[in-house]
Amino acid sequence: MTPVISATGLWTPPHTVTNAELVESYNAWADRWNEANKAEIEAGTLEAKTHSNVEFIEKASGIKSRYVVDKSGVVDPAVMRPNIPERSNDEISILAEIAVKAAKQALETAGRDPKDVDAVICAASNMQRAYPAMAIEVQEALGIEGFSFDMNVACSSATFGIQTAADFVRAGHAKSVLMVNPEITSGHLNWTDRDSHFIFGDVATAVLIEAEEVAPAQHWKILGTHLKTKFSNNIRNNFGFLNRADPSGEGKADKLFIQEGRKVFKEVVPMVSEMILSELTRLDLKSDELKRLWLHQANANMNRLISTKVLGHEASEDESPTVLDEYANTSSAGSIIAFHKHSADFKAGEKGLICSFGAGYSAGTVFVEKVA
Ligand code: COA
Repeated sequence: MTPVISATGLWTPPHTVTNAELVESYNAWADRWNEANKAEIEAGTLEAKTHSNVEFIEKASGIKSRYVVDKSGVVDPAVMRPNIPERSNDEISILAEIAVKAAKQALETAGRDPKDVDAVICAASNMQRAYPAMAIEVQEALGIEGFSFDMNVACSSATFGIQTAADFVRAGHAKSVLMVNPEITSGHLNWTDRDSHFIFGDVATAVLIEAEEVAPAQHWKILGTHLKTKFSNNIRNNFGFLNRADPSGEGKADKLFIQEGRKVFKEVVPMVSEMILSELTRLDLKSDELKRLWLHQANANMNRLISTKVLGHEASEDESPTVLDEYANTSSAGSIIAFHKHSADFKAGEKGLICSFGAGYSAGTVFVEKVA
């Protein structure tokens, strides 16, 4: 069976945090920290924290604002993490809850009854627990039969999820697969790290991948998918059940997101642009046949470089739309938000590329063509 993309869904959290709000709370936290550690700073055994800065953030990343599921904690210098109360086992988990919201939109757009969906894949960077799988919880909440599982390929999770779903369809194991990307990145971001406190935002996206024969008339043909990974220590999150947070607060930083941002920038740009160019050759496509690139949204300068290498000229906003300014980096969901928000103008036969990249390193390409 031939796999296609039938529909997408997007759920955006209600709260925004602007760069100005973020910097104000960070700077207040840094001042308190410096005051609390005054003696060591004066003795030269600790380095004082320097202020963050709105202009730097926008210039270095292109990010102006982000959405979060809880604002109260992340802008409170005494808290510096989201206030997300633990739920009882009788309640739906917050990750499954936001995934369901995005999923419902995709199912409605496709006119798909949940009972006709065969599988759910929850593909995201940060799962809130080990098991049962969040995907099975989403399956239960929507009344889907069949099978579900979680997978994590960091920021590339969505394209890896699309290829996995497409392979189930190709193999005849499923005709309709719901792939969701709930990203509560605010939970794994170190809001007290000046180098990265501005990077992430929360969101949930969904993609319905189906056999052409059951898909709605308006859908996206999948021309080809390709996945790549190459080990790198430059983006890590060591949180896991073998290293629960130290109650004394020591040594916690690497249990949250950490990165060597410069190295990531330098190493990932060539890896991704070369991968896209070789996929174009393999699929017998030319870059000028692509109406649009829906790239992973990590850094505006990175996307500018990748699209220039692929297209041979600097991409216009129409050729490579940015959602990063409004949403920040939403990990696996970024390229799907761009696709969801910037694809309604496509006519039958027009082609584009969904592309993700991130920790691992990992990268994925999904070339699509609009049908009807
Ligand atoms: N406010 C003000 N200054 C800051 C700052 C902040 N919030 N954060 C860092 N700086 C300073 C640094 O201390 C450094 O100062 P120095 O030159 O005196 O040492 C200077 O700004 C440059 O820092 P650097 O980390 O080299 O900035 P950059 O231009 O590389 O931008 C990133 C940082 C993270 C935006 C950028 O490297 C990036 O986006 N990389 C891609 C990685 C990525 O997106 N990963 C996400 C997972 S896919």
